[in-house]
Amino acid sequence: MLSRIAIKRCFSQTTINPYKVSVLGACGGIGQPLSLLLKLNPKVTSLNLYDLKNAKGVATDLSHIPTNSTVKGFSADEADGLHNALKDSDLVVIPAGVPRKPGMTRDDLFNINAGIVYDLAKATAEAAPNACVLIISNPVNSTVPIVAEVFKKLGKYNPKKLFGVTTLDSIRSARFLSELTNTDPTQNKRISIIGGHSGVTILPLLSQDELASTKLSKEQKDALIHRIQFGGDEVVKAKNGAGSATLSMAQAGSKFADAVLKGLAGEENVIEPTFIDSPILKDEGIDFFAQLVKLGPEGVKEILPIGNLSKEELELLENCKDALKKNIKKGTDFVDNKH
Ligand code: NAI
Repeated sequence: MLSRIAIKRCFSQTTINPYKVSVLGACGGIGQPLSLLLKLNPKVTSLNLYDLKNAKGVATDLSHIPTNSTVKGFSADEADGLHNALKDSDLVVIPAGVPRKPGMTRDDLFNINAGIVYDLAKATAEAAPNACVLIISNPVNSTVPIVAEVFKKLGKYNPKKLFGVTTLDSIRSARFLSELTNTDPTQNKRISIIGGHSGVTILPLLSQDELASTKLSKEQKDALIHRIQFGGDEVVKAKNGAGSATLSMAQAGSKFADAVLKGLAGEENVIEPTFIDSPILKDEGIDFFAQLVKLGPEGVKEILPIGNLSKEELELLENCKDALKKNIKKGTDFVDNKH
């Protein structure tokens, strides 16, 4: 029989970077497949799942997968469940909240999700103030400002460690472009998407993509931009009341979490799009913006320039600004009104 030390040695030899990750809302449509993908990530050695109910069940299920991480479940009904789930986490992913039904915009979710995200942000600021916090709960354009305000009020805000997850827009664009151009989606260069994460605030910069700008007609480009902006509606409609994107979102969330962990581990040139506290439009009163960032050991290492925009894209950016400004203000006002 192997001694405890030998077991420990076997374990540490295969452990590349030991990171503790918590998922809040882990038993939902996104939370479960996302937790599965995180369980398969060798950088994750400790995975804590929190939800209102069933977290222990999902955690026990995942814990039987033979990868080098321990999985624990924490419920809202146990004393200090949320605090214990979060304590000492390096990365906290938040997909808690209600999803859209047909006919709803992401903004329609605000009334319910704002309060959920507010509470979870407060607990995170208290129990894991140094963690990278990844917000999936919609409307991301408002929930990220909510988290920022909560952290600020508690004196814990680090803009380099707060991320709105917009990766789904990016992976959708890769897929949709490949369908139009009959190319391999895994090989195409990623389309740069700036702005925010809903409707017209999602601004794909097709002029910067060689394939899109040279192979597509004006009509195809317009249709592609619209499909990227409203791709989520296709899923909401097809699910017909049973929710929004969950599996593609789990893949997107896992990809982004992995990139943040790579950055923490000191890997070079880790570049991803995300909705962050950005200086780019602050003089116009827009404190958060989605764009490409380089990730590093402290979270955001560098916010990359958005590059040149075509005349049409500059017009779309004007529309995006108005909507984004309102969404951000709605989030910050929500927190201000609570204090
Ligand atoms: P879901 O309803 O299947 O799961 C949500 C989970 O959150 C449930 O298990 C629920 O019990 C849990 N929850 C609710 N309140 C909680 C609280 N206070 N603490 C802990 N857990 C709590 O919803 P789904 O499909 O997983 O979507 C979750 C969120 O993600 C929605 O707001 C949705 O709009 C958003 N979303 C974001 C995307 C993005 O690209 N950022 C893409 C798709 C969805």
